[in-house]
Parts: sequence; structure tokens; C-alpha cells
Amino acid sequence: MTAPPAPTCALITGGATGIGLELARQWLARGTRVIVCGRREAALAAARAELPGLVTRVCDVTDDAARADLVAWIGAEHPDLDLLVNNAGAQVHRVIDQPQAFAGTAEEIAVNLTAPILLTAALLPLLRRQPHAWIIMVSSGLAFAPIAHAPVYCAAKAGLHSFTLSLRHQLRGTSVQVVEFAPPAVDTALGNRSDENRAASAAHMMSAPDCVTAALARFDAGDEELLVGTSPMLREKGEALFAMLNPPMALPGAAP
Ligand SMILES: NC(=O)c1ccc[n+]([C@@H]2O[C@H](COP(=O)([O-])OP(=O)(O)OC[C@H]3O[C@@H](n4cnc5c(N)ncnc54)[C@H](OP(=O)(O)O)[C@@H]3O)[C@@H](O)[C@H]2O)c1
Repeated sequence: MTAPPAPTCALITGGATGIGLELARQWLARGTRVIVCGRREAALAAARAELPGLVTRVCDVTDDAARADLVAWIGAEHPDLDLLVNNAGAQVHRVIDQPQAFAGTAEEIAVNLTAPILLTAALLPLLRRQPHAWIIMVSSGLAFAPIAHAPVYCAAKAGLHSFTLSLRHQLRGTSVQVVEFAPPAVDTALGNRSDENRAASAAHMMSAPDCVTAALARFDAGDEELLVGTSPMLREKGEALFAMLNPPMALPGAAP
């Protein structure tokens, strides 16, 4: 099979930091025009300072009106968009028997699941006009086997994996290729970890540059699932690994 051409113009949601910023860096280096969006102008400005040529746009992808504005702006200013990366995400750790354990549940589902679906739907007509286009869903190894302390996040990522399978099936044979990128644990700000916590766990995590380099090697090879680090094992064995990922936890009042 002939390898598809490199993307001309990419939109990466949540691309001012972490994995998204690294994707932006590596695609810019390959000559792709890259647009990133996020909620914080300060983070976008820092990304622009780091990556000359980067185009940024403030957008909360969970906000219907903001998403519609983004889509209209892209149609007017970047009608050659041929790559959408649904990367924006958030992870909240929850202890289910504590007060406020489910605060912010709707927002967590919105950014990790609903917004990628709706942004994809809104940009699909534009993507379908290109000779070749890609949609990349950034899920997680935890889509296949959850970590129990992030129950809503893992459920949303499992939902995104499921949606991606259906989307790919329905777009098979069209010019739009649907790709899932499932990173392993990567050293980023995800989960609002403290600097101390990040420093302690960094040794057990992949760096964003290593993760993205590995993912793009698979992308270049035409893979539809960019599974990095521990993710292939999680994809293969799924819930069979649940007990290994989640040592028994004693909730007060739970049966022994
Ligand atoms: N790090 C890991 O271990 C890991 C593992 C597997 C999968 N992932 C996935 O990788 C993706 C990137 O995460 P990361 O690790 O790079 O963490 P990160 O640095 O915290 O990146 C998340 C980005 O999403 C943006 N964002 C959050 N809510 C948003 C919203 N409503 N609208 C627009 N942008 C929003 C944030 O910017 P603002 O706050 O400025 O909006 C931020 O730039 C996520 O989907 C995550 O689930 C990460």
C-alpha cells in the first residue's frame, strides 16, 4: 500500500501542553501547519513562544458555542485542514465513598468523550473534502483496563475507544482514516499532580517526546492503533489485567 502523504494542516485540541504540545512540535518539524487550542491563553502563549509558527486559538471544546466558533474559523482560515487530533483531556482521582466524590463528573465526561465526538462530527464535512484526511482519537491504555482511582476518566476513555471503532467502520473506504492513539503513563500535568508527586513518579513514566516519537513511527507505517509502552499489553489482555493494575482496596463498610 502506498503510504499516505504527510498532513498539510493539523488541529490538536489541548495542544499547548504535554502530549499535544509534543505532537505539535514533531508535526511542525515535518512541515505541517499546526493549530492548537485550549482554554488558557497563557498556556497557548507559552506554546507559541516555544514553537515559532504555531497557530493558537482559545477554545473550551466542551462549550457548544466555542466549538462552533472554532469550526467556523477553521473553515474560513484553514479550509485545507486534513488532520484532527482529539487530544484534550482531564483526569480526576475519586474516592467513591467520600463527600463530593462525583463533583465535576459531567465536565470530565464532556472533555474526554462528548467533545471529541461532537468536534469530529462538526469537522467531518471539511475533512471529507480533502484528498486524504485523518482523525486521531487520543484514548489511553486505561481504555482497555481501568485504574479504579480514576473511574470516570477510564469509563470515558473506554467510551472513546468504542466510538472510534464505530467511526472507523463507518468511514472505511472513504478518504478519512480513523486512528486511535493510546499512550501509556506519560510524565505530563494530567491529573493535576503536584511537582513533588510528578518527580517521584517520573521514573515509572514515559516522557512525552519518547511517547510521541513511538506513536508517529506507527502512524507513518499506516497503523490504525498507535499503541505505545504498556498499551499493547492492555489492549490484548484488557480486563484480565484489572486485578494486577488494582490491588484490593478496603473501603470502609465493604465486605472483606
Ligand atoms: N499523561 C498520561 O499518562 C496519559 C496517558 C494516556 C492518555 N493520556 C491522554 O493524553 C491527552 C493529553 O494529556 P496530557 O497527558 O498531555 O496532559 P495535559 O498536559 O494536562 O494536557 C491536557 C490538555 O488539555 C487541555 N484541555 C483540558 N480541558 C480542555 C477543554 N475543556 N477544552 C480545551 N482544552 C482542554 C489543557 O489545556 P487548558 O487547561 O488550557 O484547557 C491541556 O493543554 C489526554 O487526552 C489524556 O487523557 C495521557
